[in-house]
Amino acid sequence: MIVPRHVAIILDGNGRWAKAKGMPRTYGHVKGCDNLEKICTVAKELGVKYLTVYAFSTENWKRSKEEVDGLMKLFRNYMKKCIKISRDNKMRVRVIGDPRAFDPDLQDKIRELEEYSSQFDELHFQIALNYGSRDEITRAVRRMAEDVRKGALDPESITEDTISGYLDTRGLPDPDLLIRTSGEERLSNFLMWQLAYTEFYFTDVAWPDFDKAEFAKAIEKYNKRDRRYGGVKED
Ligand code: IPE
Ligand code: IPE
Ligand code: MG
Repeated sequence: MIVPRHVAIILDGNGRWAKAKGMPRTYGHVKGCDNLEKICTVAKELGVKYLTVYAFSTENWKRSKEEVDGLMKLFRNYMKKCIKISRDNKMRVRVIGDPRAFDPDLQDKIRELEEYSSQFDELHFQIALNYGSRDEITRAVRRMAEDVRKGALDPESITEDTISGYLDTRGLPDPDLLIRTSGEERLSNFLMWQLAYTEFYFTDVAWPDFDKAEFAKAIEKYNKRDRRYGGVKED
């Protein structure tokens, strides 16, 4: 069995999962967050080296204040809990996206977690928070333009690797497998540059129910794919 080195997950369906149980959306987020606590250990047990999850998009600010506030509270809590998860799994954590939109105390917690976990490298865990692919590319282009203006970057020398190096995911391999839970089959502004050759796996299982057996199913399906990267496979 080939285990994908880098798995990216759009963790979707918390709200619908809660609604089906007659509960408020925020209850779904609490349970989704519980699952987020477990998924790193699951990924490590399955042999995955890089795990990237989409937890809050640049578009998710459009939700009700009550829902956004509930999510921010969960993220604060999660950053603290993640310190222990990173120690247990020898896991380095990076937050991708633009943290500047968050309250200063949440930004501090993010920084603390990133600094603490930077000593580890058995598992690399990326959490996308206030992340949008278009926003990431826009921020990257601004910095590139700034570097050109300063004379630190020659436009003629720009390659695909240069661009990758300006993205939030710099230094990380591209995802091999993308999973989206809860039935929707779209990217919703996630890692558009990085997913150029990634295999996609969609499941109807909602995020709070996505467990080790479901993760293993996705990897099994990945193994049946015929990856080509534009070339022709030898028989
Ligand atoms: C995913 O669940 C979590 C976030 C986007 C924060 P949703 O909140 O999108 O749940 P559904 O898609 O409405 O069911
Ligand atoms: C994508 O899910 C963002 C995250 C999972 C964080 P959404 O539920 O926000 O996406 P749409 O609105 O259904 O496309
Ligand atoms: Mg959703």
